[in-house]
Amino acid sequence: MKHLCSLLCFLLLALPALSKERTIKPGVLWPDAAGNHINAHGGGVLFYKGYYYWYGEHKAEHTSAALVGVTCYRSKDLVNWTCCGVALPVEEQVGSDIEKGCTMERPKVVYCARTGKFVMWFHLELKGHGYAAARAAVAVADKPTGPFLYLRSGRVNPYCWPADWTEADHACADTLQAAHFGRWWTEPWRRAITQGLFVKRDFSGGQMARDMTLYVDDDGRAYHIFSSEDNLTLQVAELSDDFTYHTGRYWRIAPGGQNEAPALFKHEGRYWLITSGCTGWAPNEARMFTAERISGPWKQLPSPCSGPNAKLTFGGQSTYVLPVQGRPGAFIFMADIWRPQHPIDARYVWLPITFKDNVPVVEWRDEWAPADFFR
Ligand code: GAL
Repeated sequence: MKHLCSLLCFLLLALPALSKERTIKPGVLWPDAAGNHINAHGGGVLFYKGYYYWYGEHKAEHTSAALVGVTCYRSKDLVNWTCCGVALPVEEQVGSDIEKGCTMERPKVVYCARTGKFVMWFHLELKGHGYAAARAAVAVADKPTGPFLYLRSGRVNPYCWPADWTEADHACADTLQAAHFGRWWTEPWRRAITQGLFVKRDFSGGQMARDMTLYVDDDGRAYHIFSSEDNLTLQVAELSDDFTYHTGRYWRIAPGGQNEAPALFKHEGRYWLITSGCTGWAPNEARMFTAERISGPWKQLPSPCSGPNAKLTFGGQSTYVLPVQGRPGAFIFMADIWRPQHPIDARYVWLPITFKDNVPVVEWRDEWAPADFFR
């Protein structure tokens, strides 16, 4: 009897530990603690007081529209995740910016040390208007799991020119007349885009903001990096001290380069940016940029991906680069394999970043253990 009791006690104590997964398997179903495939797409991760918090888009069975909102999961080891529910729910109220059926994409959350608040930004499209609104939306919370209080949405930095434009840049933009560039994709049109045709077009209404990420720099300044100018150009915009407004200072990255899905990180004082091209839900080859300052100039390098299907980013699209806590130089590349016909079944590709000659490399692995990799 005594032995039986000891055995039972052992099993009770040991089973939960034994049932814990050790490895990440990119591209296969990833069950949370309750056994359900994690539903946090286009996501980002925040580390706060011993836990990683993973925020993402809740996807439904048959639509990519937001029927639930932004979800939150929590983990200590980056492998085993517990669902913490909906951090920012959609609203039932007709006409609300975040009305059920709108599009809420690529949510990212950062912690603002100055205010002690958690600040979420995401790409918002209004219900029934396709991708025309191209707005950035912001919400705040006192706790990482929410509930987040929705604040507002809009285009970005109206009545502001790029912070680094010279007199010559302004003079050049002055000459650009939209009426002269009715036809897209011609050489003169491309040149005009580079020179700021759409920056000028959106000057009074604010710059478009679609695919996005956030980055908090070592000095505590936060930046919003997003696809703007009809997805032709990325912009990096400085956020206010409380992270809930844009300051009006912004810079353009790769004008006319058609980059989406930005994921930014910093390693040994150098900024790295991984992006995708613009092919909607279909995968394409990742791109990589680097700069000494977040404001640029940014230099383009070949894709960091290597291994089977690297040319198509392993079938995925970047969403975030996660710095592993307490391990300088340890990063995880996060991407989504979209399933537009069955959005809830979209998969995650999480792979460790290594450095070869100080340049990031993302190599395919069928399975890997963060605990072994980041010793
Ligand atoms: C992708 C974008 C996704 C989503 C999709 C819609 O290019 O990265 O976040 O907006 O287009 O087609």
